[in-house]
Amino acid sequence: MNNLRKSKSPTAKWINRTLIISFLGISVFILMFPAVFSSGKFGGNQLKAHTLTRQQTPAIQQTSDTDDMKLILYGKDLIANTSKYLGPKGSVMHISNGMNCQNCHLDAGTRPMGNNYSAVYSTYPRYRARSAGTETIVKRISDCFERSLNGRKPDSSSREMKAMVAYMKWVGRGVPKGRAPKGAGMTKLAYLDRAANPNTGSMLYQEKCAVCHGVKGQGIINPDGKSFIYPPLWGARSYNDGAGLYRISTFAGFVKDNMPFGASHDNPILTDEQAWDLAAFVNAQPRPHKDQRLDWKNISEKPIDFPFGPYSDGFSENQHKYGPFKPIAAVRTVK
Ligand code: HEC
Ligand code: HEC
Repeated sequence: MNNLRKSKSPTAKWINRTLIISFLGISVFILMFPAVFSSGKFGGNQLKAHTLTRQQTPAIQQTSDTDDMKLILYGKDLIANTSKYLGPKGSVMHISNGMNCQNCHLDAGTRPMGNNYSAVYSTYPRYRARSAGTETIVKRISDCFERSLNGRKPDSSSREMKAMVAYMKWVGRGVPKGRAPKGAGMTKLAYLDRAANPNTGSMLYQEKCAVCHGVKGQGIINPDGKSFIYPPLWGARSYNDGAGLYRISTFAGFVKDNMPFGASHDNPILTDEQAWDLAAFVNAQPRPHKDQRLDWKNISEKPIDFPFGPYSDGFSENQHKYGPFKPIAAVRTVK
């Protein structure tokens, strides 16, 4: 064996090396530009059955009603390419900030632990403490428009709203009423014993996130100016301070299982501590403000990491924003 290897000509060695290097190069390229590969351009316009409920129900192609199918497919497109239709240069309305629902609800809201919609149809209408009332799916979608997309909600009777609701019904097909399938929504990380540290988060951010989301969190916009290749994490075009991701537990849970892009619940890249510190750093940066005076009418129902007082306990806004959260949790009756 050894002799054989030694006797290889220098040209053969050179070809070998070139092959290995180009293979590595192509792999890095694919890893670095997942948005391009996962975008509609390559994926076609067919709905793919997803792992969460695949066994439970037939695929959309088997829906007998073509009108239904058109509406569901339009709903999916609105989730995946929101900006194209409803962004600042959108073709239907200008009611959102240029982000797509899919930026935070991965694979159009079907990826396990990627903030998916599998439990939406089965669990709404439901009581939510933020509005102290029963919320419909339309109300919940409207909330993400007004907060995560820092915009305005489409009319509840619009084709756009109907399409998104129809799509969520399709994603949650076969899920029994009141139940959430395994892998629904996203993960909740255990609280750290310490406060999350924005300074550590800042270093981690430059090292692991800036390449796609930009050194100033501004994202990378498409040359046509209509949508982002990589969405912003803070600044004028990002989610506002009334959004779910502005609470650091939500941000940390999402990022632990899904970022850097390519990570998953089963193959995470970050540790819990890194996810918390990144959340603290990103949510310490400037972003649009939302008037939330009408939220959380019952202040004792505010989440532990909701960063705006008044509170029913004696802890400061700073501790409610960054932690340590365990001492707050210990005195809570409403968790
Ligand atoms: C910046 C990130 C972000 C974007 C963009 C975003 N969302 Fe959300 N969305 C979240 C988070 C985080 C939650 C859950 C956390 C919470 O309840 O506060 C959520 C929850 C939801 C839920 C409820 C899910 C459940 O199981 O209770 C629906 C429905 C929803 N979003 C729809 C949309 C739609 C439609 C769009 C686009 C118009 C959108 N979202 C855009 C972050 C986002
Ligand atoms: C290889 C590129 C890449 C890297 C590196 C990366 N992301 Fe992302 N990130 C994306 C893409 C692409 C999306 C949108 C996903 C989609 O639309 O399918 C995204 C979405 C997000 C979102 C939700 C949308 C938003 O803009 O608020 C958050 C939060 C986020 N990333 C945080 C991070 C953090 C924190 C890091 C570093 C640990 C990181 N990302 C590293 C590509 C990347």
